[in-house]
Amino acid sequence: MHALLDNVVSHFEAVFGRAPEWLASAPGRANLIGEHVDHQEGCVLPAAINRYTVAAAAPNKDHVFRLWSAPMRDHPIIHPTARDDLQPVEGSWGNYVLGVIHAYQASGIHSGGFDMAFDSNLPIGAGMSSSASIEACTALVVEGLSGTSLSPNQRALLCQQAEHQFAGVPCGIMDQLTVNGGIDGHALAIDCRTLTIEPHQIPEDLGLLVIDSQVRHALADGEYAKRKADCQHASETLGIPLLRDASLPLLMSRKAGLGERVFRRAHHVVTEINRVTAFQEAMRNADRERMGILLTESHRSLRDDFEVSCPELDLLVAIAREHGAIGSRMMGGGFGGSTITLVSLHQADAIADRIGRAYRQATGKEAVCHLVRPVGGAAAHSLSPNNHLSLS
Ligand code: GLA
Repeated sequence: MHALLDNVVSHFEAVFGRAPEWLASAPGRANLIGEHVDHQEGCVLPAAINRYTVAAAAPNKDHVFRLWSAPMRDHPIIHPTARDDLQPVEGSWGNYVLGVIHAYQASGIHSGGFDMAFDSNLPIGAGMSSSASIEACTALVVEGLSGTSLSPNQRALLCQQAEHQFAGVPCGIMDQLTVNGGIDGHALAIDCRTLTIEPHQIPEDLGLLVIDSQVRHALADGEYAKRKADCQHASETLGIPLLRDASLPLLMSRKAGLGERVFRRAHHVVTEINRVTAFQEAMRNADRERMGILLTESHRSLRDDFEVSCPELDLLVAIAREHGAIGSRMMGGGFGGSTITLVSLHQADAIADRIGRAYRQATGKEAVCHLVRPVGGAAAHSLSPNNHLSLS
Protein backbone atom coordinates (compact mmCIF):
# COMPACT_ATOMS: atom_id res chain seq x y z
CA MET A 1 0.00 0.00 0.00
CA HIS A 2 2.94 2.35 0.69
CA ALA A 3 3.92 2.34 -2.99
CA LEU A 4 0.34 3.11 -3.98
CA LEU A 5 0.27 6.05 -1.55
CA ASP A 6 3.54 7.35 -3.03
CA ASN A 7 2.06 7.01 -6.51
CA VAL A 8 -1.11 8.88 -5.72
CA VAL A 9 0.87 11.77 -4.23
CA SER A 10 2.92 11.98 -7.45
CA HIS A 11 -0.23 11.80 -9.55
CA PHE A 12 -1.85 14.56 -7.52
CA GLU A 13 1.19 16.80 -7.93
CA ALA A 14 1.40 16.15 -11.68
CA VAL A 15 -2.32 16.69 -12.32
CA PHE A 16 -3.01 19.60 -9.96
CA GLY A 17 0.39 21.29 -9.80
CA ARG A 18 0.66 21.44 -6.02
CA ALA A 19 1.06 19.14 -3.03
CA PRO A 20 -1.92 17.26 -1.55
CA GLU A 21 -2.95 17.94 2.04
CA TRP A 22 -4.98 14.79 2.76
CA LEU A 23 -4.34 11.11 2.12
CA ALA A 24 -6.69 8.18 2.62
CA SER A 25 -6.76 4.47 1.85
CA ALA A 26 -9.56 1.93 1.83
CA PRO A 27 -9.37 -1.83 1.27
CA GLY A 28 -11.59 -4.00 -0.90
CA ARG A 29 -13.52 -6.90 0.57
CA ALA A 30 -13.92 -10.62 0.12
CA ASN A 31 -17.05 -12.32 1.42
CA LEU A 32 -16.59 -15.80 2.87
CA ILE A 33 -20.32 -16.51 2.92
CA GLY A 34 -23.65 -14.71 3.20
CA GLU A 35 -24.31 -13.47 -0.35
CA HIS A 36 -27.36 -11.43 -1.32
CA VAL A 37 -28.71 -11.43 2.20
CA ASP A 38 -27.53 -8.03 3.45
CA HIS A 39 -30.37 -6.24 1.61
CA GLN A 40 -32.71 -8.47 3.65
CA GLU A 41 -30.88 -7.51 6.87
CA GLY A 42 -29.43 -11.02 7.23
CA CYS A 43 -26.01 -11.92 8.65
CA VAL A 44 -22.86 -12.02 6.50
CA LEU A 45 -19.20 -13.01 6.97
CA PRO A 46 -16.88 -10.79 4.89
CA ALA A 47 -13.31 -9.56 5.46
CA ALA A 48 -11.49 -6.42 4.30
CA ILE A 49 -8.59 -7.51 2.06
CA ASN A 50 -5.15 -6.18 1.19
CA ARG A 51 -6.10 -4.65 -2.17
CA TYR A 52 -6.65 -0.91 -1.93
CA THR A 53 -7.96 2.31 -3.36
CA VAL A 54 -5.95 5.34 -2.21
CA ALA A 55 -6.71 9.03 -2.57
CA ALA A 56 -4.83 12.34 -2.24
CA ALA A 57 -6.69 15.61 -1.93
CA ALA A 58 -6.39 19.32 -1.19
CA PRO A 59 -8.98 22.08 -0.88
CA ASN A 60 -9.39 24.59 -3.73
CA LYS A 61 -10.65 28.14 -3.70
CA ASP A 62 -12.84 27.79 -6.81
CA HIS A 63 -15.72 25.94 -5.07
CA VAL A 64 -15.54 23.03 -7.52
CA PHE A 65 -14.71 19.33 -7.28
CA ARG A 66 -11.92 18.23 -9.61
CA LEU A 67 -11.59 14.44 -9.69
CA TRP A 68 -8.90 12.39 -11.38
CA SER A 69 -8.28 8.65 -11.17
CA ALA A 70 -5.27 6.67 -12.46
CA PRO A 71 -7.38 3.69 -13.62
CA MET A 72 -9.87 6.10 -15.29
CA ARG A 73 -7.27 8.62 -16.44
CA ASP A 74 -9.10 9.22 -19.73
CA HIS A 75 -12.17 10.42 -17.82
CA PRO A 76 -11.22 13.26 -15.48
CA ILE A 77 -14.15 15.09 -13.93
CA ILE A 78 -14.71 18.71 -13.05
CA HIS A 79 -17.91 19.23 -11.17
CA PRO A 80 -18.72 22.91 -11.40
CA THR A 81 -20.20 23.56 -8.00
CA ALA A 82 -19.40 22.66 -4.44
CA ARG A 83 -22.81 23.81 -3.26
CA ASP A 84 -25.59 21.60 -1.91
CA ASP A 85 -27.42 20.87 -5.17
CA LEU A 86 -25.15 18.09 -6.45
CA GLN A 87 -26.74 15.78 -8.99
CA PRO A 88 -25.60 12.38 -10.30
CA VAL A 89 -23.92 12.38 -13.73
CA GLU A 90 -25.23 9.54 -15.90
CA GLY A 91 -22.74 6.65 -16.17
CA SER A 92 -19.86 8.48 -14.46
CA TRP A 93 -17.38 6.94 -11.97
CA GLY A 94 -17.54 10.32 -10.23
CA ASN A 95 -20.95 9.42 -8.82
CA TYR A 96 -19.30 7.38 -6.06
CA VAL A 97 -17.46 10.53 -5.00
CA LEU A 98 -20.19 13.12 -5.58
CA GLY A 99 -22.74 10.82 -3.90
CA VAL A 100 -20.66 10.72 -0.71
CA ILE A 101 -20.12 14.49 -0.72
CA HIS A 102 -23.88 14.91 -1.17
CA ALA A 103 -24.70 12.48 1.68
CA TYR A 104 -22.36 14.38 4.03
CA GLN A 105 -23.84 17.72 2.94
CA ALA A 106 -27.35 16.40 3.58
CA SER A 107 -26.32 15.57 7.13
CA GLY A 108 -24.84 19.04 7.61
CA ILE A 109 -21.15 18.25 6.99
CA HIS A 110 -19.56 20.53 4.36
CA SER A 111 -16.06 20.16 2.95
CA GLY A 112 -15.93 23.07 0.48
CA GLY A 113 -14.43 22.52 -2.97
CA PHE A 114 -11.45 20.19 -3.39
CA ASP A 115 -9.19 18.49 -5.90
CA MET A 116 -8.71 14.74 -5.56
CA ALA A 117 -6.65 12.01 -7.24
CA PHE A 118 -7.18 8.25 -6.88
CA ASP A 119 -5.04 5.22 -7.53
CA SER A 120 -5.94 1.59 -6.95
CA ASN A 121 -4.79 -2.00 -7.17
CA LEU A 122 -8.34 -3.26 -6.70
CA PRO A 123 -9.76 -4.58 -9.95
CA ILE A 124 -12.82 -2.55 -10.98
CA GLY A 125 -16.12 -4.43 -11.31
CA ALA A 126 -14.61 -7.71 -10.08
CA GLY A 127 -16.95 -8.08 -7.09
CA MET A 128 -14.30 -6.91 -4.63
CA SER A 129 -16.01 -3.64 -3.63
CA SER A 130 -13.95 -1.16 -5.61
CA SER A 131 -16.86 1.30 -5.44
CA ALA A 132 -17.20 1.05 -1.64
CA SER A 133 -13.46 1.72 -1.33
CA ILE A 134 -13.72 4.91 -3.45
CA GLU A 135 -16.62 5.99 -1.25
CA ALA A 136 -14.69 5.35 1.98
CA CYS A 137 -11.65 7.35 0.76
CA THR A 138 -13.95 10.23 -0.19
CA ALA A 139 -15.69 10.09 3.17
CA LEU A 140 -12.37 10.33 5.02
CA VAL A 141 -11.28 13.29 2.90
CA VAL A 142 -14.60 15.09 3.50
CA GLU A 143 -14.24 14.44 7.23
CA GLY A 144 -10.67 15.72 7.19
CA LEU A 145 -11.57 18.90 5.31
CA SER A 146 -14.61 19.60 7.47
CA GLY A 147 -12.94 18.76 10.77
CA THR A 148 -15.35 15.94 11.63
CA SER A 149 -14.74 12.34 12.56
CA LEU A 150 -17.51 9.77 12.23
CA SER A 151 -17.49 6.17 13.46
CA PRO A 152 -16.93 3.48 10.80
CA ASN A 153 -20.62 2.53 11.02
CA GLN A 154 -21.87 6.12 10.56
CA ARG A 155 -19.46 6.56 7.66
CA ALA A 156 -20.65 3.30 6.08
CA LEU A 157 -24.28 4.44 6.19
CA LEU A 158 -23.46 7.70 4.38
CA CYS A 159 -21.44 5.77 1.78
CA GLN A 160 -24.40 3.44 1.25
CA GLN A 161 -26.59 6.50 0.54
CA ALA A 162 -24.18 7.42 -2.25
CA GLU A 163 -24.80 4.01 -3.89
CA HIS A 164 -28.56 4.35 -3.53
CA GLN A 165 -28.93 7.96 -4.63
CA PHE A 166 -26.04 8.54 -7.06
CA ALA A 167 -24.96 5.13 -8.42
CA GLY A 168 -28.52 3.79 -8.64
CA VAL A 169 -27.79 0.48 -6.87
CA PRO A 170 -30.14 -0.32 -3.95
CA CYS A 171 -27.36 -2.27 -2.21
CA GLY A 172 -27.18 -3.58 1.34
CA ILE A 173 -24.65 -2.38 3.91
CA MET A 174 -22.11 -5.24 3.79
CA ASP A 175 -19.50 -3.67 1.51
CA GLN A 176 -19.46 -0.26 3.15
CA LEU A 177 -19.32 -1.70 6.68
CA THR A 178 -16.51 -4.10 5.80
CA VAL A 179 -14.38 -1.59 3.94
CA ASN A 180 -14.73 0.94 6.77
CA GLY A 181 -14.62 -1.42 9.74
CA GLY A 182 -12.21 -4.20 8.67
CA ILE A 183 -10.07 -5.85 11.37
CA ASP A 184 -6.61 -7.25 10.68
CA GLY A 185 -6.60 -11.07 10.53
CA HIS A 186 -10.35 -11.34 10.97
CA ALA A 187 -13.60 -11.93 9.14
CA LEU A 188 -16.50 -9.81 10.39
CA ALA A 189 -19.73 -11.52 11.38
CA ILE A 190 -22.06 -8.60 10.60
CA ASP A 191 -25.68 -8.53 11.60
CA CYS A 192 -27.04 -6.28 8.86
CA ARG A 193 -30.09 -5.39 10.96
CA THR A 194 -28.44 -4.24 14.17
CA LEU A 195 -25.11 -3.39 12.43
CA THR A 196 -23.23 -5.17 15.21
CA ILE A 197 -19.93 -6.74 14.22
CA GLU A 198 -18.34 -9.78 15.82
CA PRO A 199 -14.74 -10.45 14.70
CA HIS A 200 -13.87 -14.05 13.78
CA GLN A 201 -10.22 -14.91 13.49
CA ILE A 202 -9.39 -16.46 10.12
CA PRO A 203 -7.04 -19.43 10.68
CA GLU A 204 -3.52 -18.49 9.60
CA ASP A 205 -3.12 -21.60 7.47
CA LEU A 206 -6.29 -20.85 5.49
CA GLY A 207 -5.59 -19.31 2.08
CA LEU A 208 -8.17 -16.93 0.58
CA LEU A 209 -8.04 -16.91 -3.19
CA VAL A 210 -10.17 -14.34 -4.97
CA ILE A 211 -10.26 -15.50 -8.58
CA ASP A 212 -11.34 -12.87 -11.08
CA SER A 213 -13.15 -14.46 -14.05
CA GLN A 214 -12.53 -11.24 -16.03
CA VAL A 215 -16.20 -11.23 -16.95
CA ARG A 216 -17.53 -7.81 -16.00
CA HIS A 217 -20.85 -7.12 -14.40
CA ALA A 218 -22.96 -4.00 -14.14
CA LEU A 219 -25.10 -4.12 -11.03
CA ALA A 220 -26.76 -0.90 -12.11
CA ASP A 221 -28.15 -2.76 -15.13
CA GLY A 222 -31.13 -3.48 -12.96
CA GLU A 223 -30.76 -7.17 -12.11
CA TYR A 224 -29.80 -6.37 -8.52
CA ALA A 225 -32.90 -4.21 -8.11
CA LYS A 226 -35.05 -6.96 -9.67
CA ARG A 227 -33.76 -9.54 -7.16
CA LYS A 228 -34.46 -7.17 -4.31
CA ALA A 229 -37.98 -6.53 -5.65
CA ASP A 230 -38.62 -10.31 -5.75
CA CYS A 231 -37.49 -10.53 -2.11
CA GLN A 232 -39.82 -7.69 -1.17
CA HIS A 233 -42.70 -9.41 -2.95
CA ALA A 234 -41.94 -12.58 -0.94
CA SER A 235 -41.79 -10.83 2.43
CA GLU A 236 -45.01 -8.91 1.73
CA THR A 237 -46.80 -12.13 0.79
CA LEU A 238 -45.47 -13.81 3.93
CA GLY A 239 -46.55 -10.83 6.03
CA ILE A 240 -43.09 -10.14 7.49
CA PRO A 241 -40.85 -7.03 7.32
CA LEU A 242 -37.98 -8.66 5.38
CA LEU A 243 -36.83 -12.18 4.51
CA ARG A 244 -34.51 -12.04 7.51
CA ASP A 245 -37.69 -12.67 9.50
CA ALA A 246 -38.66 -15.88 7.65
CA SER A 247 -37.80 -19.36 8.88
CA LEU A 248 -37.41 -22.27 6.47
CA PRO A 249 -40.52 -24.08 7.82
CA LEU A 250 -42.60 -20.88 7.35
CA LEU A 251 -41.32 -20.47 3.80
CA MET A 252 -41.98 -24.11 2.89
CA SER A 253 -45.50 -23.97 4.31
CA ARG A 254 -46.35 -20.92 2.15
CA LYS A 255 -44.58 -22.11 -1.02
CA ALA A 256 -47.74 -22.44 -3.13
CA GLY A 257 -48.79 -18.83 -2.58
CA LEU A 258 -45.46 -17.30 -3.61
CA GLY A 259 -45.11 -18.36 -7.22
CA GLU A 260 -42.17 -20.41 -8.46
CA ARG A 261 -39.59 -17.66 -9.10
CA VAL A 262 -40.29 -15.64 -5.97
CA PHE A 263 -40.17 -18.82 -3.88
CA ARG A 264 -36.69 -19.63 -5.23
CA ARG A 265 -35.42 -16.13 -4.48
CA ALA A 266 -36.72 -16.37 -0.91
CA HIS A 267 -35.37 -19.90 -0.56
CA HIS A 268 -31.89 -18.64 -1.38
CA VAL A 269 -32.01 -15.88 1.22
CA VAL A 270 -33.41 -18.04 4.02
CA THR A 271 -31.03 -20.97 3.44
CA GLU A 272 -28.03 -18.66 2.92
CA ILE A 273 -28.62 -16.96 6.27
CA ASN A 274 -28.66 -20.42 7.89
CA ARG A 275 -25.42 -21.30 6.10
CA VAL A 276 -23.66 -18.26 7.56
CA THR A 277 -24.28 -19.51 11.11
CA ALA A 278 -23.24 -23.04 10.15
CA PHE A 279 -20.06 -21.76 8.47
CA GLN A 280 -19.02 -19.74 11.52
CA GLU A 281 -19.34 -22.87 13.64
CA ALA A 282 -17.42 -24.98 11.11
CA MET A 283 -14.62 -22.38 11.00
CA ARG A 284 -14.43 -22.32 14.80
CA ASN A 285 -14.17 -26.13 14.81
CA ALA A 286 -11.60 -26.12 11.97
CA ASP A 287 -14.01 -28.42 10.09
CA ARG A 288 -12.81 -27.77 6.56
CA GLU A 289 -14.93 -30.42 4.96
CA ARG A 290 -18.09 -28.81 6.31
CA MET A 291 -16.86 -25.34 5.27
CA GLY A 292 -16.36 -26.68 1.74
CA ILE A 293 -19.82 -28.25 1.61
CA LEU A 294 -21.42 -24.98 2.75
CA LEU A 295 -19.57 -23.01 0.05
CA THR A 296 -20.73 -25.51 -2.58
CA GLU A 297 -24.32 -25.23 -1.37
CA SER A 298 -24.09 -21.43 -1.33
CA HIS A 299 -22.92 -21.41 -4.95
CA ARG A 300 -25.65 -23.79 -6.05
CA SER A 301 -28.25 -21.61 -4.37
CA LEU A 302 -26.90 -18.40 -5.95
CA ARG A 303 -26.80 -20.12 -9.35
CA ASP A 304 -30.15 -21.92 -9.34
CA ASP A 305 -32.39 -20.10 -6.86
CA PHE A 306 -31.15 -16.50 -6.99
CA GLU A 307 -29.84 -16.77 -10.60
CA VAL A 308 -26.95 -14.33 -10.26
CA SER A 309 -24.08 -16.52 -11.49
CA CYS A 310 -22.76 -16.94 -15.05
CA PRO A 311 -21.14 -19.86 -16.93
CA GLU A 312 -17.58 -18.64 -16.26
CA LEU A 313 -18.15 -18.43 -12.49
CA ASP A 314 -19.81 -21.88 -12.48
CA LEU A 315 -16.78 -23.22 -14.33
CA LEU A 316 -14.27 -21.63 -11.94
CA VAL A 317 -16.12 -23.14 -8.98
CA ALA A 318 -16.19 -26.61 -10.57
CA ILE A 319 -12.50 -26.43 -11.54
CA ALA A 320 -11.51 -25.30 -8.04
CA ARG A 321 -13.20 -28.32 -6.48
CA GLU A 322 -11.46 -30.67 -8.93
CA HIS A 323 -8.06 -29.13 -8.19
CA GLY A 324 -7.85 -29.44 -4.43
CA ALA A 325 -9.65 -26.37 -3.04
CA ILE A 326 -11.48 -26.69 0.28
CA GLY A 327 -14.45 -25.01 -1.35
CA SER A 328 -15.42 -22.27 -3.77
CA ARG A 329 -18.39 -20.09 -4.72
CA MET A 330 -19.20 -16.96 -6.66
CA MET A 331 -18.76 -13.79 -4.63
CA GLY A 332 -20.41 -10.35 -4.58
CA GLY A 333 -23.31 -9.14 -6.69
CA GLY A 334 -22.70 -11.70 -9.46
CA PHE A 335 -23.19 -11.82 -13.26
CA GLY A 336 -19.39 -11.99 -13.56
CA GLY A 337 -16.64 -10.84 -11.24
CA SER A 338 -14.89 -13.25 -8.91
CA THR A 339 -15.11 -16.42 -6.88
CA ILE A 340 -13.94 -16.83 -3.30
CA THR A 341 -11.95 -20.05 -3.11
CA LEU A 342 -10.59 -21.41 0.16
CA VAL A 343 -7.42 -23.49 0.10
CA SER A 344 -4.71 -24.68 2.47
CA LEU A 345 -2.29 -21.77 2.48
CA HIS A 346 0.77 -23.88 1.62
CA GLN A 347 -1.01 -25.17 -1.53
CA ALA A 348 -2.38 -21.78 -2.61
CA ASP A 349 0.08 -21.01 -5.42
CA ALA A 350 -0.02 -24.51 -6.88
CA ILE A 351 -3.84 -24.63 -6.83
CA ALA A 352 -4.11 -21.12 -8.29
CA ASP A 353 -1.81 -22.20 -11.17
CA ARG A 354 -3.85 -25.30 -11.88
CA ILE A 355 -7.15 -23.39 -11.81
CA GLY A 356 -5.73 -20.69 -14.11
CA ARG A 357 -4.51 -23.26 -16.62
CA ALA A 358 -7.79 -25.23 -16.68
CA TYR A 359 -9.85 -22.01 -17.05
CA ARG A 360 -7.66 -20.86 -19.96
CA GLN A 361 -8.02 -24.22 -21.69
CA ALA A 362 -11.79 -24.22 -21.32
CA THR A 363 -12.57 -20.57 -22.13
CA GLY A 364 -9.54 -18.98 -23.79
CA LYS A 365 -9.74 -16.34 -21.04
CA GLU A 366 -7.17 -15.49 -18.35
CA ALA A 367 -8.41 -15.69 -14.77
CA VAL A 368 -6.52 -13.47 -12.34
CA CYS A 369 -5.87 -15.13 -8.96
CA HIS A 370 -5.40 -12.87 -5.93
CA LEU A 371 -4.12 -14.55 -2.77
CA VAL A 372 -5.48 -12.06 -0.25
CA ARG A 373 -5.10 -11.42 3.46
CA PRO A 374 -7.66 -9.98 5.93
CA VAL A 375 -6.70 -6.43 6.92
CA GLY A 376 -7.91 -3.36 8.82
CA GLY A 377 -10.39 -0.87 7.38
CA ALA A 378 -10.21 2.54 5.71
CA ALA A 379 -7.75 5.00 7.23
CA ALA A 380 -6.55 8.58 6.88
CA HIS A 381 -2.78 9.07 6.60
CA SER A 382 -0.86 12.17 7.46
CA LEU A 383 1.51 14.01 5.15
CA SER A 384 4.50 15.76 6.65
CA PRO A 385 5.21 19.31 5.35
CA ASN A 386 7.93 18.16 2.95
CA ASN A 387 5.60 15.43 1.71
CA HIS A 388 7.25 12.39 3.21
CA LEU A 389 4.55 9.94 4.07
CA SER A 390 4.04 9.09 7.67
CA LEU A 391 1.50 6.32 7.98
CA SER A 392 -0.94 6.74 10.82
C1 GLA B 1 -23.06 -6.17 -3.87
C2 GLA B 1 -23.78 -5.22 -2.92
C3 GLA B 1 -23.81 -5.77 -1.49
C4 GLA B 1 -24.32 -7.20 -1.45
C5 GLA B 1 -23.60 -8.06 -2.50
C6 GLA B 1 -24.21 -9.44 -2.59
O1 GLA B 1 -21.72 -6.27 -3.53
O2 GLA B 1 -23.14 -3.96 -2.90
O3 GLA B 1 -24.59 -4.93 -0.66
O4 GLA B 1 -25.71 -7.25 -1.61
O5 GLA B 1 -23.66 -7.46 -3.79
O6 GLA B 1 -24.06 -10.12 -1.40
